[in-house]
Amino acid sequence: MGKSDLSSTCIAYAPSSTANLGPGYDVFGLGLDVFEDRVALSRLSTRSNRVTIRATDDNNTTSNSVPSRLESNSAGLVIKKMSIDFGIDYDLDVSITKGVPVGYGMGSSAASAAAAATAFNKLFNLEIDRSKLVEYAAEGEIASAGVKHYDNVSASVLGGFVIVRTNPKLEVIRIEPPEDLVLVIAIPMISVPEGKTGIARSLLPSTVSLGDVVVTLSNASMIVAGFILKDVEMIARGIHDIIVEPARRNLIPGYIGVKKNALEAGSLAVAISGAGPSMISFLKTAKDAENVANAMATGFSEANVKCRTFVTRPSSGARIAKTEVP
Ligand code: HSE
Repeated sequence: MGKSDLSSTCIAYAPSSTANLGPGYDVFGLGLDVFEDRVALSRLSTRSNRVTIRATDDNNTTSNSVPSRLESNSAGLVIKKMSIDFGIDYDLDVSITKGVPVGYGMGSSAASAAAAATAFNKLFNLEIDRSKLVEYAAEGEIASAGVKHYDNVSASVLGGFVIVRTNPKLEVIRIEPPEDLVLVIAIPMISVPEGKTGIARSLLPSTVSLGDVVVTLSNASMIVAGFILKDVEMIARGIHDIIVEPARRNLIPGYIGVKKNALEAGSLAVAISGAGPSMISFLKTAKDAENVANAMATGFSEANVKCRTFVTRPSSGARIAKTEVP
């Protein structure tokens, strides 16, 4: 690292997230307490617009590497855009500690982007409000998805359950999830290609029938109503997708078995987490969580795939480390 002092470093954390929740493609997100990324952003004393990125992977879940080239790194893209918009020409050092597995549908790129936007905002005392932070964090999604999508970054910045509307302008609504909502994640240990989200998006149909829109809208509405009414069973009844999941499920070996086993073991609903390949179960209370985790693992092993399972809860959003010394 170049010359810096402690007062010119800011550390932020942002959580993992799951997107879509079945029918809410690019609209729904949920912050998850299971993993988080840490971004330490240092302002150096020199001013030549240089950004150096270092990334370390703190978990053994995956072997996918974190790109350190500015344009391929979600945090790097956010910092570049914010530097331009706010006329900041200091050289910057970005140290990313990945806690969120890279490329598995757990909002990895979003977590780094959300932490980077949060750290930048604090370091330069910009006092950007949270919805503007979401806009900046979404810049980072271009690195992995090729386009901006706001569901994971909204959940990572704000925490809780989020609803995203982008047209005619960005609006993000946050709803506090029910206290009894429990999630079980199964992450299959398969190799995923770089740019996986872009690939998974390219498989989706460009047009859908009106009948499918009606079904999807009614399911999505149940999810929103369930979060507002704090009714986990209602949320779960809405988690059924007939447009995006059928187009993607062949990317996930064991998809059918994982889903079937989880439902038989007490899961109320099962979905692909974001663009996959992780799968997520929704439960009311933790009583059946271990059984569901084992059932999901069995589903993957029946397809000759090892997986790691985690039981978790919704999370709050990105935060600044108050007392941590860089
Ligand atoms: N909504 C995005 C997608 C989430 O499904 O492509 C990616 O994590």
